[in-house]
Amino acid sequence: MSDVRFDNRVAIVTGSGNGLGKTYALELAKRGAKVVVNDLGGSAFGGGSDKAAADVVVDEIKAAGGEAAANYDSVIDGDKIIQTAMDNFGRVDIVINNAGILRDKTFHKMTDEDWDLIYDVHVRGAYKVTHAAWPYMRENGYGRLIFTASAAGIYGNFGQTNYAMAKLGLHGMSQTLALEGRSKNIMVNTIAPIAGSRLTETVMPKKIVDALRPEFVMPLVLKLCDENSDETGGLFEVGAGFIAKVRWERTKGKCFSIKNNFTPEDINAAWDEITDFSESTHPANIADSNRDIMRNLKA
Ligand SMILES: NC(=O)c1ccc[n+]([C@@H]2O[C@H](COP(=O)([O-])OP(=O)(O)OC[C@H]3O[C@@H](n4cnc5c(N)ncnc54)[C@H](O)[C@@H]3O)[C@@H](O)[C@H]2O)c1
Repeated sequence: MSDVRFDNRVAIVTGSGNGLGKTYALELAKRGAKVVVNDLGGSAFGGGSDKAAADVVVDEIKAAGGEAAANYDSVIDGDKIIQTAMDNFGRVDIVINNAGILRDKTFHKMTDEDWDLIYDVHVRGAYKVTHAAWPYMRENGYGRLIFTASAAGIYGNFGQTNYAMAKLGLHGMSQTLALEGRSKNIMVNTIAPIAGSRLTETVMPKKIVDALRPEFVMPLVLKLCDENSDETGGLFEVGAGFIAKVRWERTKGKCFSIKNNFTPEDINAAWDEITDFSESTHPANIADSNRDIMRNLKA
């Protein structure tokens, strides 16, 4: 197995002033990448800004002999972040959409501001950064993109309707970009990480936060950004040294004859069969998903 190297590659890591993003930026630079360290430097809840967050990481990379440039824009202005990469390094090869905040509240207490801010930073921000990078990647016939979801999005989590909406939305975006990017050698994957950071220190005991080092997430992210990796469209849960791929599972299901009307009572009678996972399948694309529907239409 050859070493995973990023020489002559230009990587943009959003929100890399702290936590997970910082570990990606430092290791990418150590392995030869020129890195744009983007960070707004605000609070974990989305207020304020501070250039120091990005500057500290850029200084650390440069002190170790690496190449890096700081960008202080919000991901909502994603085009400016990509412009920093073009101005400083003239290319875009890798984008890690990592910036994030929390506005946890139970749904009945959720305000429009809580909802919109989470959407803006996580979904619109990742869209704006990726949309600005995409033409360069297509032109170069090369790209590696990471989106950052969360177990909260995959499984739901009490008090996180806004965050869960955004995080699973990113996987939808990522899966579709994987389809659109494949022919141009643009590989797109999503991670659902768990790591100790200022986002998790509000909800986990300090001992666990300290033990869940972001460095345990970083190797998977770099593997997925490797030029030798052809993994695309994947969703991975990762943390504390555990790495697993997630896929959809569907029950065998039941086909009702559409020659006659079928009723809610018919569905009640067949409910055990509809929800029985003993003969489940794993649709991996729209064609798989539609096959039984089309077959029933023709029956
Ligand atoms: N830590 C976990 O266990 C965990 C779990 C699931 C998902 N995540 C996701 O991982 C990502 C990184 O989180 P972390 O735990 O390292 O948190 P963190 O707070 O340590 O780092 C996030 C960084 O993003 C920056 N940021 C926030 N809004 C920004 C904006 N609009 N533009 C640019 N930068 C911005 C912050 O300043 C911060 O430096 C986030 O997307 C988070 O939702 C983390």
